[in-house]
Parts: sequence; structure tokens; C-alpha cells
Amino acid sequence: MTHDASSSTDVTAEPLCALHEIPGGGVLERVARVDGEPESLLILRRGDEVHVFFNVCPHAGRRLDFAPGRFMLDADTLLCAAHGAAFAIPGGACIAGPCRGERLREVRSAVRDGHVWLVPA
Ligand code: FES
Repeated sequence: MTHDASSSTDVTAEPLCALHEIPGGGVLERVARVDGEPESLLILRRGDEVHVFFNVCPHAGRRLDFAPGRFMLDADTLLCAAHGAAFAIPGGACIAGPCRGERLREVRSAVRDGHVWLVPA
């Protein structure tokens, strides 16, 4: 979910990406530290709304992309490349497949100055 951060101390030191780097209606993959660990993250943009999720499927913990940074995505559904779980976009709920009813894990983020930032817990 897009969070409106209001001070410069509540986000990570480096942005994840510039807003314009995320294809319209698309997704961008970045590796960033979350709780001190490098994690593959997927960054979804719908208009001005941005969501950041761990690139980890709740079914068997596999990556969602079929190649690094390459996702099966249409207007409102993201498919897991491993076994085909379907996730509603941008909310991240699994709507079909082996983990129906579970969700992608979202990472708190903020959009500021044309960039996407992580918001530490
Ligand atoms: S790991 Fe994603 S559907 Fe099995």
C-alpha cells in the first residue's frame, strides 16, 4: 500500500527505484535489505498507487517470477510461475490455486519526491 511518509527519517536511506522506472500497470523487481537481509521485492504501480511485496509465494516459498524480474502479470492478476497460484493485484490476495485465501507479504513503502522508499517497521 502506498503510505504517505511525512519526514525524512522514517524511510530507508536509499530509494528502491524512481516511480518512472515502474512500467505503467506493470511490475519492477529490486533486491533490497529488509530487516537486514537482502530480499527480492516486486514493486507494483497502478496510477499513483504503489505496492511492494516480497517476491515469495505463500504456497511453497518459491519466487513468483519465471526469470529474474519477469512476471506473468495482466491487468489485475499476477500468476506464480511455480504452480500457477493467482494473486489479485494490487491487493495481493490469492484468488485461485494451491494457496487460495493466503496473501503475498507486503512491505511498507512510501512514495516521495518521485521515488519509492521502504518504511522500516
Ligand atoms: S510456489 Fe507459487 S503456486 Fe506453488
